[in-house]
Amino acid sequence: MDAQFWINAWIEGRTAFHQSKYNEKLLAYFPTLSPTQGQSVLVPLCGKSKDLCWLRDQGLVVRGIELYEEAVAAFFPENAFPSPTITRHQEFVTYESDGVTIDCGDFLKFEGSDSFDFAYDRAALVALPESMRKAYAEKVQTLLRRGGKCLLMTYEYDQLELQGPPFSVDEVQVRQLYGQRCDVKLLDRRELKVEGSRLGTLPSLREAVYQLTKRH
Ligand SMILES: C[S@@+](CC[C@H](N)C(=O)[O-])C[C@H]1O[C@@H](n2cnc3c(N)ncnc32)[C@H](O)[C@@H]1O
Repeated sequence: MDAQFWINAWIEGRTAFHQSKYNEKLLAYFPTLSPTQGQSVLVPLCGKSKDLCWLRDQGLVVRGIELYEEAVAAFFPENAFPSPTITRHQEFVTYESDGVTIDCGDFLKFEGSDSFDFAYDRAALVALPESMRKAYAEKVQTLLRRGGKCLLMTYEYDQLELQGPPFSVDEVQVRQLYGQRCDVKLLDRRELKVEGSRLGTLPSLREAVYQLTKRH
C-alpha cells in the first residue's frame, strides 16, 4: 500500500474506516493505561480521526501523523478548532491547534526516539501489508519511551476471504512484531459486526485489543 493507494482512497471516498463517533474500545481501554494530564500520545496514520479530540480532551498532548494533507487540513474546521498554524519542514507539513499537532508526511520518516508516553493504533497496523509491518512496528517502539504504552487494535479473519486493507493480523504476528521490546497483553477479543463496509461480508471477524508496554 503505497502513498498513492491512500491518496486515491481519500479522493474516491473509500474511507469507510473513518468513524463519526469516538472509538468504543478507545473509551473503554485507554483509561486503563492510566494516562495523566500533560502526557504525550502518538497517533500514527491518524487520518482525520475524531479520537484525536477525545485524547486531547483527556489533557494529553496529541501528535498525529498522516500522509494525506487534505484530511489533515479538514480535521481542524470539522472539529471546530481555531485555525491551525502551518509550518513546512523538509519531510513534513505540520498543523497545530489547541493541543493537537498533526504532521503530514510518511510516518516511517518521522524522526525521534523515546518521545511519547503513549501510542494509539486504531486501523493503522492493519492498514499496512505484511512487508511494511516490521518497519512500522519498529518505528512505533522507537518513538515510545521506556515504560510507554500503546493501545493496539487489530482485526482477525480468514485472509483468503477478503483482500486487505484492513488486513488480518493475529496474535502470533503481534507478538513477533512487538514481543522483543514490549510486554504484550491481550485486553479484549470478540466477534465484530460491521455494517456499511466490506468487512461486513466476512463470515467471521474478530477484533482484538492489546496493551503493549515498552521494556527497552
Ligand atoms: C485505515 S486509515 C485509518 C485512519 C485512522 N487511524 C482512523 O482510525 O480513522 C489509514 C490511514 O493511514 C494513512 N497512511 C497510510 N500510510 C501512511 C504512512 N506511511 N504515513 C502516514 N500515513 C499513512 C492513510 O492516508 C489513511 O488515512
